[in-house]
Amino acid sequence: NKHIAIGLLGLGTVGTGIMHIITEHQHKLCKKTGLNEISVKKALVRDLEKANGHGFQSVDYTTDGYEVVTDEDIHVVIEVMGGITLAKELIEKALDQGKHVVTANKDLMALHGEDLLQRAKRNQVELMYEASVAGGIPILRALNDGLSSDQITKIVGIVNGTTNYMLTKMSKEDLSYDEALKEAQEKGFAESDPTSDVGGLDAARKMVILARLGFSTSVELDDVYVRGMTEVTSDDIDYGKKLGYTLKLIGLASKEENGAEVSVEPVFVPDEHPLATVNDEFNAVYVYGDAVGETMFYGPGAGSLPTATAVVSDVVSVIRHLRLGVSANALEDSSTTSLEISDER
Ligand code: NDP
Ligand code: HSE
Repeated sequence: NKHIAIGLLGLGTVGTGIMHIITEHQHKLCKKTGLNEISVKKALVRDLEKANGHGFQSVDYTTDGYEVVTDEDIHVVIEVMGGITLAKELIEKALDQGKHVVTANKDLMALHGEDLLQRAKRNQVELMYEASVAGGIPILRALNDGLSSDQITKIVGIVNGTTNYMLTKMSKEDLSYDEALKEAQEKGFAESDPTSDVGGLDAARKMVILARLGFSTSVELDDVYVRGMTEVTSDDIDYGKKLGYTLKLIGLASKEENGAEVSVEPVFVPDEHPLATVNDEFNAVYVYGDAVGETMFYGPGAGSLPTATAVVSDVVSVIRHLRLGVSANALEDSSTTSLEISDER
């Protein structure tokens, strides 16, 4: 009975989506990985009573994240608690314990991603973060894999679901800024503190991750020009509409000789441009490559199940690499690790 045990850090919007997918898609996940069972063994929560109320029977809950990342039976740790300090400490501990890590945390990856990826490599384990950019769109895979042979020169995107949802509702349903933000929060698109959504920082973090991966260069968050939508009014949106433009929060990254230039700001997009038609919480990312030309990736950019899909797909990738005896982050090293999957429970 080959099974893999997962440790889960955080059981909120994305965490419960992950539980749902692992439970509902168990058969398919096992078929894809050649395992008999994939299960969440332990989960970090803040409120044990609330967690028990979710009804995920087989999970042990703890309020101590170190119990999760040091559990010897756990092979893969998923971090969906958010924040920087504790999430970073727990991920580092997990990597140092030889555990593979999957995270949706763009705050952390934008600030400390390069160091964490180096740490994973040193420990010959994987750190995957597909869900950190554009929710359910497999854009990191596309840059890392499908377009890896090309020279990417420009990336343009709508990469924040909350603000795109707000701009759509303010434009099409005449909702006020506050009403639209409240709805985006209720639907689970916004961060627990939505300041980074509306202020443009969330999009900036994602553009940094995209630029690093797309241009294979170092990019610092501090160097990004960021203007969010906090000063956008319904009048601005209506004014653009009358002239045939739709207001969107646009991230732009261009490859430069010595790195990249990255910005996030509200832009009037001509109505006939495909980015103008990206509505609600949907995201879209345009990628320009020397050889491929222009490609566009489109899909849900936030929300429980779309984001959880990206997280669990990363888990599937980790297991597949390990079943092949190949650790993607360790490919440059001569010795690679392979997963010892428990035959007994
Ligand atoms: P939530 O706030 O809904 O979930 C986070 C969960 O982690 C909460 O249940 C929270 O508990 C728990 N938690 C946080 N800190 C601790 C702690 N110290 N100890 C115990 N439990 C803790 O956030 P989301 O699920 O929306 O987001 C999770 C991560 O995924 C974030 O990094 C976010 O940026 C990222 N993400 C989110 C997307 C989305 O659409 N929501 C999309 C893509 C990425 P409590 O509720 O008690 O605070
Ligand atoms: N708050 C983020 C957004 C979640 O609205 O896009 C997805 O990263």
